[in-house]
Amino acid sequence: MKLFDVYPLQPVTITRAAGSFVWGDDGTRYLDMYGGHAVISIGHTHPHWVKRIEDQLEKIAFYSNSVHLPIQEELASLLLHISGKKNYQLFLCNSGAEANENAMKLASFHTGRKKIIAFRHSFHGRTSLAVAATDNPAILAPVNVTDAIIFLPFNDEEALAECFKNNRDEIAAVITEGIQGVGGIRVAADSFLRSIREHCDQSGALMIADSVQCGYGRTGNFFAHDYAGISADIYTMAKGMGNGFPVAGVLIAPHIKPKHGMLGTTFGGNPLACAAALAVLEVMRDENLMVNATTVGNYLMEQLRGIPSLQQVRGRGLMIGFDVPAELSGLKNELLSQTHVFTGEAKPSVIRLLPPLSLSLREADMFLQAIQSLLSNQPQPEN
Ligand SMILES: Cc1ncc(COP(=O)(O)O)c(C=O)c1O
Repeated sequence: MKLFDVYPLQPVTITRAAGSFVWGDDGTRYLDMYGGHAVISIGHTHPHWVKRIEDQLEKIAFYSNSVHLPIQEELASLLLHISGKKNYQLFLCNSGAEANENAMKLASFHTGRKKIIAFRHSFHGRTSLAVAATDNPAILAPVNVTDAIIFLPFNDEEALAECFKNNRDEIAAVITEGIQGVGGIRVAADSFLRSIREHCDQSGALMIADSVQCGYGRTGNFFAHDYAGISADIYTMAKGMGNGFPVAGVLIAPHIKPKHGMLGTTFGGNPLACAAALAVLEVMRDENLMVNATTVGNYLMEQLRGIPSLQQVRGRGLMIGFDVPAELSGLKNELLSQTHVFTGEAKPSVIRLLPPLSLSLREADMFLQAIQSLLSNQPQPEN
């Protein structure tokens, strides 16, 4: 049977990984500055993560949410401690799209309203409401078309105010990434996030912070939205949460009350996923990875700003993007084929860096040497 051919593939077959590196089937070592779409948070195959999953596997891998699973409470309590979102409630699920789908559904249940504000260049996932709130008509099937979503320009406080003025009692929620990832590493202005918070407070709408890519310590704060000094009503989390084990979650403010049957999933919150997620938080705490993300991220951005052909270096922590001029449009592929470095891309000409939060300064230097050697057409130094 053939695989359904929906993914454009890079010409590499990866067979093993450790820390910030992966190895191809021919033995070539690659520096991973992309973490498989921002998923690798504590480093590939971290020994504590492997051990915790192995230990759990020997106890029990799965039972459904029809019984008490204490490991879910253990995860909730560590998550609330590290995120600082005291008294929030946790709903566990399996992917970023599912987390956003549940967040928007919950906002609609809670408010009894039908409209969601989303922003230009957003990405929230590929399931029904999540894809409708994603600003990419190419991935919207006719069946996903809905008038429930109002798109506004990103970082435009006037447009936001105008929309709330005209639709005040209809808006169930505003959903926004703290830093748009797929959209090209565009940072939400602190004042824009505060303005969303105020409009939601005044109108009774909920603020949903899509933290699937920018959350979980990636920017140096647990949530990128924390930089604005506000709390959202709902946070969605996925990618870095399991370091590659599929697990996602929705953090829900205490004023939003649950009802039996309101949300649900078969696999979400299974003990194996919880063990992986707990291992991630334990390593983040014990190895101070949020501080590392800030230190190494700031260093990388400062050094990249010194490279004349790279424009508008931007981001926070280890969520970094920069524009490349048209003549460097092949940079991502050249970084991979010639210097053995994985990076990401956003259309039309943005390079995205989303490495493990454990990236060391030495590894950051390896990346900088690689990019400089390419840009100056020098032979690549040994790594
Ligand atoms: C901000 C954001 N939200 C949601 C998603 C969807 O996550 P998933 O692919 O796990 O469904 C993504 C995936 O890239 C994302 O970047």
